[in-house]
Amino acid sequence: MSIRLLALAGTLWIGIASQVTLARTPDTAADPATRAAAIVRKMTRAEKLQYVHGYFPPYQKPRPPQMANAAGHVPGVPRLGIPDLRESDASLGVANNVEQRPGDTATALPGTLALAATFDPVLARSAGAMIGSEARAKTFNVLLAGGVNLTRDAWGGRNFEYFGEDPLLSGIMAGAAVAGVQSNHIIATVKHFAFNAQETGRDVLDARLDHEALQESDLLAFHIAIEDGQPGSVMCAYNKVNGIYACENPWLLTDVLRNEWHYPGFVMSDWGAVHSTDQAALAGLDQESGQELDDRIYFADALGASITAGRVPERRLDEMVTRILTAAIATGLVDDPVPATPQPIAAAADAAVAQRVAERGMVLLKNTRNVLPLARDVLPLARKARHVVLIGGHADVGVLSGGGSSQVRSVGGIPLEIPLTEGTAMSFARVTWHASSPLRALQAAMPGVTIDYVDGRDVPAAAAAAARADVAIVFATQWRTEAQDLPGLALPDNQDALIGAVAKANPATVVVLETGGAVLMPWLDRVAAVVAAWYPGQRGGEALARLLTGDIDFAGRLPLTFPRSAAQLPRTGPADPAHPIAYPERADVGYRWFGLRHETPLFPFGYGLGYGRVTCDDVRFAGGAHPQVSLTLRNTAARATTAVPQLYLVGPEHAPARLVGWQSTDLAPGETRRITIAADPRLLPRYRQGRWSIMPGAYRLTVGLAADAPIATGSVTITDAAPSPS
Ligand code: BGC
Repeated sequence: MSIRLLALAGTLWIGIASQVTLARTPDTAADPATRAAAIVRKMTRAEKLQYVHGYFPPYQKPRPPQMANAAGHVPGVPRLGIPDLRESDASLGVANNVEQRPGDTATALPGTLALAATFDPVLARSAGAMIGSEARAKTFNVLLAGGVNLTRDAWGGRNFEYFGEDPLLSGIMAGAAVAGVQSNHIIATVKHFAFNAQETGRDVLDARLDHEALQESDLLAFHIAIEDGQPGSVMCAYNKVNGIYACENPWLLTDVLRNEWHYPGFVMSDWGAVHSTDQAALAGLDQESGQELDDRIYFADALGASITAGRVPERRLDEMVTRILTAAIATGLVDDPVPATPQPIAAAADAAVAQRVAERGMVLLKNTRNVLPLARDVLPLARKARHVVLIGGHADVGVLSGGGSSQVRSVGGIPLEIPLTEGTAMSFARVTWHASSPLRALQAAMPGVTIDYVDGRDVPAAAAAAARADVAIVFATQWRTEAQDLPGLALPDNQDALIGAVAKANPATVVVLETGGAVLMPWLDRVAAVVAAWYPGQRGGEALARLLTGDIDFAGRLPLTFPRSAAQLPRTGPADPAHPIAYPERADVGYRWFGLRHETPLFPFGYGLGYGRVTCDDVRFAGGAHPQVSLTLRNTAARATTAVPQLYLVGPEHAPARLVGWQSTDLAPGETRRITIAADPRLLPRYRQGRWSIMPGAYRLTVGLAADAPIATGSVTITDAAPSPS
């Protein structure tokens, strides 16, 4: 089925904008768009104008009591039952960065990259549902969650908030998370539409990319997330796309979002991303957010004046409000309002969700000399570690979190917080650790084993401590934040030297990386094991202890490529925002760029080890209109494990492999299971000359356990059996 057809089908969910939909829905009284339009007819122009611009509560002095000190507030119209929109950031939990609301804690999930690494949409939905339930309890009804920007630059400050480099994985996981949030009868957002690929100069940069490449990469991720998650809102980005700011870009907001995808919800701006009244309103922006952050307020009196002067038609204002209300009605926000006062959250159950994401999302990158699992009954007695030393990363008190508007003030407390003294993130980010101590979790998991901690600032002392232990575990950290990119991909603060010295002192060295993405590993050959723990969230220490001791197996796989060096990437650092930025990789982001250039990464997309042993036999590929692969997985080990077979499509025209499906499969000890992975139909067509179409012909399908490690390859013929639009 073509993307266009799926988009048409997608309009059915809240049934607006399409005559087909209305004709099939005789009970128009129940239709959200019709209900919204009926309300709009009763609104005065002043009331409508009031609903298309929002406040930034931290700047309200004094702040009205009904305004939560969070990201945004849009007053409703009580006489018509129109609710206030109470907005909070919520990518990793209900945010409370720089403790705007003292004492208001929420459950902190791991960074979104960890969620992506689970390759598990069901878990993504639970994570979204958990965030949504806490938001609801805290009286928020619009969540600025769902970052779907593809990781194009390994140093991107916000990469930890996104789902990695692949459009299918990002779209499916984001869509599932959005659906989970909205199952609480509140609105979720996907953001930042589109192409906010770097933080450096994010509010001025001009991303240049042809429509074909955009449609097949970043926009494809958004489209899948929107189809699957049906978010009430889309947040337009700070940057320009092909010379025009995203929030006043008619191609993005009208041609693609509205006309091609038939998106029925509303477009809200990012905070400080509006630059015009008429152009933005006419291009398709429906709501100016956090207006105090714009250089002036564009959508209140100024929009009224434009309507009076005839520069913006009154019906456009009606459309803006109708779209906002349609989303509010369709998600259930109007009929099932959030509580008037904060309610308790289900802290224990929610923490279990955070732990599950951490357990399923950490990735084992290397494991030699049987160094892992650390102990217990898994290894013969002689090999059990009796003395383990943990080094660095403040692993005695907690785990690192990424910074910026997504920062959660976690349940359990913040044992360590370092304010910034410079940089663009200074006013709204602090370097923060969640109280989930790997040291204490490992001590609890391995009674009878001596487990010490040294902070690693004194490298010779750390090496000496490592020499005395059976196993040394170095916790390496790399903090990222919104609004700033990393200066490079190396671990900061002399940590490479620390790891090198520890590995020299003790070959049984394990490195646990708490990072917001890929880092360089000059010491890789000298250490025994490496774990990518991402930003592990408020139960990261406990999750890590279970994984390191072998209580559970690693199920995570890389949602992005780890390069050997920046020289392998399309750019070698953040692009200069003073000039338009070209993207030579076009749609071939991440592993596809590596495939195209025949570069071997340090670790490929899709890669990850486990303790189990899984064989894969009897692989059968099928082509036609529904390409797929069937295979038999067999767990030959005496322990439970997880396999994540991935299906890639190559061709036609020598295009690099692209992920078209996967299935994360848990296998009991000795279990054999036959599975089928179908290619997602949205990945089959290509965007050529302004339309999506499947190019029938010969293709190659490969199934593998990583993007560059095929287990089997088959040649198939793919046909276009999509029904005709008429
Ligand atoms: C970020 C958005 C966020 C908004 C409100 C902006 O700076 O880019 O992701 O939702 O602030 O906090």
